[in-house]
Amino acid sequence: MVKIGIIGAMELEVKELKEAMTVSEITKKANMEFFEGTLNNVPVVIVQSGIGKVNAALCTQILADLFQVTHIINTGVAGSLNVALDIGDILISRDALHHDMDVTIFGYQLGEVPQMGRREFPADERLAKLAKEACEKVNPDIHAILGRVVSGDQFISGNEIKEKLIQEYQGDCAEMEGASIAHGAYLNNIPFVIIRAISDKADNSAEMDYPAFEAAAAKHSAALVKELVKHI
Ligand code: ADE
Repeated sequence: MVKIGIIGAMELEVKELKEAMTVSEITKKANMEFFEGTLNNVPVVIVQSGIGKVNAALCTQILADLFQVTHIINTGVAGSLNVALDIGDILISRDALHHDMDVTIFGYQLGEVPQMGRREFPADERLAKLAKEACEKVNPDIHAILGRVVSGDQFISGNEIKEKLIQEYQGDCAEMEGASIAHGAYLNNIPFVIIRAISDKADNSAEMDYPAFEAAAAKHSAALVKELVKHI
């Protein structure tokens, strides 16, 4: 039987999903509230992890240990690094990597986790395909592509750093949790997908765009997740 862990970093990324679910139990752990129940009759655990990579990693491990989830979905917003992704569009992960991991001094590739032999954490292909199909169904007017999520403990809001994330990591969107969830899911053998709606372009206009578009973008991602769980 499936039990799907759904992680959003911020309240506005999980609010709609929590309202749509039937809750059977709420468990508090590591200052996070895990809402167990069903969404569209599918067993789920929905949780607001908090922002950043440490919160996201802890949250993923708790979903694995305490709830034994069979799949993980990360929903939320991101800054676009791809000219084909405009504000409101959706990026579905093909893979994710840490853009703030740099042990190149010892010969590792930029972004590679030392002694792990891994830079990219691949998303589950079936989940990514189902997410794309769900998006076409519920958000037919919204452009969605598969691509690479790059994550770091940093809000990206400048052309120079944006350019680096494109050139060095071939990122399609930047956010602050995805690679940690991917990394944790990989270590626990749990299939995952990251779904991110674009709230800004991670450039000099991001500071203005983000507050204006985050709520609408988060809604797009949540609508997709509601549909997606029915097909897993
Ligand atoms: N989340 C949404 N936009 C972002 C950005 N520009 N950088 C990091 N995380 C984000």
